[in-house]
Amino acid sequence: MTKVTMTVNGKAVSAEAEGRTLLVNYLREGLGLTGTHVGCDTSQCGACVVHVNGKAVKSCTVFAADLEGAEVRTIEGMANADGSLSVIQQAFQDHHGLQCGFCTPGMVMSSAALLAENPKPSEAEVRHYLEGNICRCTGYHNIIKAVLAASGQDVPAVAAE
Ligand code: FES
Ligand code: FES
Repeated sequence: MTKVTMTVNGKAVSAEAEGRTLLVNYLREGLGLTGTHVGCDTSQCGACVVHVNGKAVKSCTVFAADLEGAEVRTIEGMANADGSLSVIQQAFQDHHGLQCGFCTPGMVMSSAALLAENPKPSEAEVRHYLEGNICRCTGYHNIIKAVLAASGQDVPAVAAE
């Protein structure tokens, strides 16, 4: 075991990790940040998406020990400083972009990364970007609506309630 230090949600943190410890386990078990979920063991579901140095990353696919000094953001770091929901989180709530909520942390983190790269994505671009995030509840339409609403665009008629 070695101590791995990184910046998570703006705070310097350290936790012990083995060479094989995945970032998702470092966050959940080492730091107690259980908002990042594990939904598969095949790198397919996207429930574990966090930002590493500003990019969306499936945290079950990277080793914590390789991220010494990295800047990581998790769902726990997404709310505004006053504790209110971020624009994206609020849009998911307003547009019913979640049901059980299991996929939601990963969806929010992926959506935030998309909007950082592409502030006004088309519906097709949102759908394409979120292909790596699986939701077994919503049928995706309301998630797409939420992301488009968070980008300040009208929600598409095809996804209307
Ligand atoms: S837990 Fe990482 S992709 Fe499913
Ligand atoms: S809201 Fe249940 S898996 Fe997406």
